[in-house]
Amino acid sequence: MTQFIGVIGYPLKHSVSPDFQQAALDYYKLDIRYEAWEVKAADLSSAINRLRQPQNLGANITVPYKETTLRLIDEVDDFASLVGAVNTVVNRHGKLLGFNTDAHGFIKALRDDANFEPENKRAVILGAGGAARAVGFALLEEKLSSLIIANRTLAKAESLAGLLAKHAANNKISAEIAAVPWQSSKVTKAVENCQLIVNCTSLGMRGSSYEEESPLASDLIPKDALVYDLVYNPSETPLLRMAQKAGASTIGGLSMLVYQGAASFKLWTGREAPLDIMFSAAKQALTKIGG
Ligand code: ATR
Repeated sequence: MTQFIGVIGYPLKHSVSPDFQQAALDYYKLDIRYEAWEVKAADLSSAINRLRQPQNLGANITVPYKETTLRLIDEVDDFASLVGAVNTVVNRHGKLLGFNTDAHGFIKALRDDANFEPENKRAVILGAGGAARAVGFALLEEKLSSLIIANRTLAKAESLAGLLAKHAANNKISAEIAAVPWQSSKVTKAVENCQLIVNCTSLGMRGSSYEEESPLASDLIPKDALVYDLVYNPSETPLLRMAQKAGASTIGGLSMLVYQGAASFKLWTGREAPLDIMFSAAKQALTKIGG
């Protein structure tokens, strides 16, 4: 019996997950199809329920359903509950289990590809949506000394900073955590003093109305900082160009994408993901859609 995995989101036309996940499944010659399941909000709960059928192994969940899905499944892993978002669902004999592999992907790329050890470092997170939440909790668990969140909607940055501060207090993690207004002098100061800048906004994303925009100008970026853009299409975003101009180190979002997918692959199949194959399939798919 052919089995199925899919990515559930809306819209899905730019997702490269089907390309690199299918390449990994084919590498092991598994009779499993990984499909793009574009689902409208009104149909989400029935789409999630369908995952209980025996031919379905599970799904990736992407924008805008990572938070809603948490309430539609049977069990949520501790880290996914903490982040408040699920990006991977596994069907275990009709029972749906939820995980969040985004944070794992982010930290693995940070360590292995950017060679950055987060402990005791100061970071600035740009954005306060779902991606920023996963990054914020991941960094806190890695014992950063300072985490400053800047977001266009200040209230969302404040709410994320509040959640992170509560988690830090409950777990005896001592870190400076603060929210600052978008493009304010407080951001400038925080950026000046940090070693890691992470863009979790959609600025610079291909196909958006702000694909030419960088959240920071090059003269603000310290040359000894690492600038990490979660945007993976294009591979060289306006922010990464600014960072290069400033002499800073850079990393784009592709490795996080592949590593989160690799962790999901292991949850569904129990096998180690063939990373090289996934990377080359993801790059090829991005070239096709203009990345
Ligand atoms: P994701 O799950 O990818 O994080 P999201 O939850 O929609 O997606 O979050 C998008 C982030 O990009 C938010 O921080 C958003 O800022 P607001 O909270 O103010 O909406 C940020 N963002 C989107 N468009 C932006 C823009 N034009 N300028 C600045 N920030 C922007």
